[in-house]
Amino acid sequence: MQIATVKESLTKLPVGAEVHVRGWVRTFRSNRFIALNDGSTVANLQCVVNFEELPEDLLKRINTGACISVQGDLVSSQGQGQNVEIQVKKLEILGDSDADEYPLQPKKHSLEFLREIAHLRMRTATMSAVMRIRHNATFAIHKYFHDRGFYNLHTPIITGSDAEGAGEMFRVTTLDPINPPTTDDGKVDYKEDFFEKETNLTVSGQLEAELGAMGLSKVYTFGPTFRAENSNTSRHLAEFWMIEPEVAFADLDDNMDLSEDFLKFVIQYILDNCVEDLEILDKRLADEEKGKPQAERSEQGLIERLKFVVENNFVRLSYTEAIEILRNSKPNKKGKFKYKIEGWGADLQSEHERFLVEKHFKSPVILFDYPANIKAFYMRLNEDEKTVRAMDVLFPGIGEIVGGSQREERYDVLKGKMEKMGIAEEDLWWYLDTRKFGTCVHSGFGLGFERLVQFVTGMGNIRDVIPFPRTPGRAEF
Ligand code: 4AD
Ligand code: MG
Repeated sequence: MQIATVKESLTKLPVGAEVHVRGWVRTFRSNRFIALNDGSTVANLQCVVNFEELPEDLLKRINTGACISVQGDLVSSQGQGQNVEIQVKKLEILGDSDADEYPLQPKKHSLEFLREIAHLRMRTATMSAVMRIRHNATFAIHKYFHDRGFYNLHTPIITGSDAEGAGEMFRVTTLDPINPPTTDDGKVDYKEDFFEKETNLTVSGQLEAELGAMGLSKVYTFGPTFRAENSNTSRHLAEFWMIEPEVAFADLDDNMDLSEDFLKFVIQYILDNCVEDLEILDKRLADEEKGKPQAERSEQGLIERLKFVVENNFVRLSYTEAIEILRNSKPNKKGKFKYKIEGWGADLQSEHERFLVEKHFKSPVILFDYPANIKAFYMRLNEDEKTVRAMDVLFPGIGEIVGGSQREERYDVLKGKMEKMGIAEEDLWWYLDTRKFGTCVHSGFGLGFERLVQFVTGMGNIRDVIPFPRTPGRAEF
């Protein structure tokens, strides 16, 4: 007798093997079959039980959601889509589940409903497939960088600086937030705070990753980041995971090459290693598309979309060229964008980004050389003194998936920029120091992990690709 997962039972073990499998009852029918799932794979293990031989009190406890243990022989199956099933000789209930109370009935539930029961939704076929893909993407990311000589750097979660200078931070304090102690002039007295200074949850590990690159040459972070922006969209979370490579001696072209190669590698890894999960998500997406009006339906299925990205070059285009295209475009029937193009210098709305990617080029696009005044202080100023060496990678169905830049490595220029943007030197003296002692050209970018998982799983809402989403008003579990 061998303890095995559902996946091992279905794919690795020979017919005739005696196995012991544990999992949760997905469905049961005809008084003979139990569909058992343990999350190891999409498929259920069909358990063939002679219900008539089971004692009445045990029989009553075989309910959807119950945790059970079965022992028996693997035999060839006549059932559709499975080669083997288990002929059960011994069945035990490990954990009961009251059929009337269990929220996951054996029927299709909406994703909105599943979000309300996030503590149980990983038992569904869709959510468990998403979570297995999320894991595989994590693994592929570490593999990509490790194989190319990058070192993983753990950057702090609690920090005294605002890496993006956008003021969207969550405070971390041990003081009474309502009535904090104050100094004589009425300001918060941080002497009594744990860190003796104002601190927040990090919005990005970039500044510390730059310090790492200035000693280790090639580093990357992969950690949680936090944004207190009140964006209730399908692509924003208050807590999300970001991957931030930072490379010494690399310019913006190297950075664009790295982002494209990296994204293609991770997507190819998922295509190669998550076939069953992709297939059921492809089917889910196709069903969803069927419900949409013809004009809004996507031309490609999920797997086709992924292959397209891997097999084609991303379009590279300057911000200035993009503005020209947008100005000369007629996106909807009335020939208008919902948000007008304000002209050169304005930030692009996601509507504009998605027009470029989904309608105009029908391909991922890397936009570069943005106006300096709509981008962060640390980006390298171009010779025209109007634009910076910034880049955003835009994906179909997602919009911005990566944001990055070549960094301003010149001490005087950086210091001048910080002054102009009102960033205090005493907060970032350590960052300026790297420009004082052995500065060099360097670049990096940040990939929003959940946006990548959205793309590879075809899930429309970012809340459905992270186990426990943090959004405005929601942090229960
Ligand atoms: O464009 P962002 O703000 O860039 C940075 O933070 C840089 N420090 C990165 C770097 O150069 N090292 O964020 C990077 C990416 C975005 O392109 C997006 O994919 C994701 O992070 N992102 C979010 N994902 C989910 N929810 C949010 N609220 C996000 N904000 C940004
Ligand atoms: Mg950005």
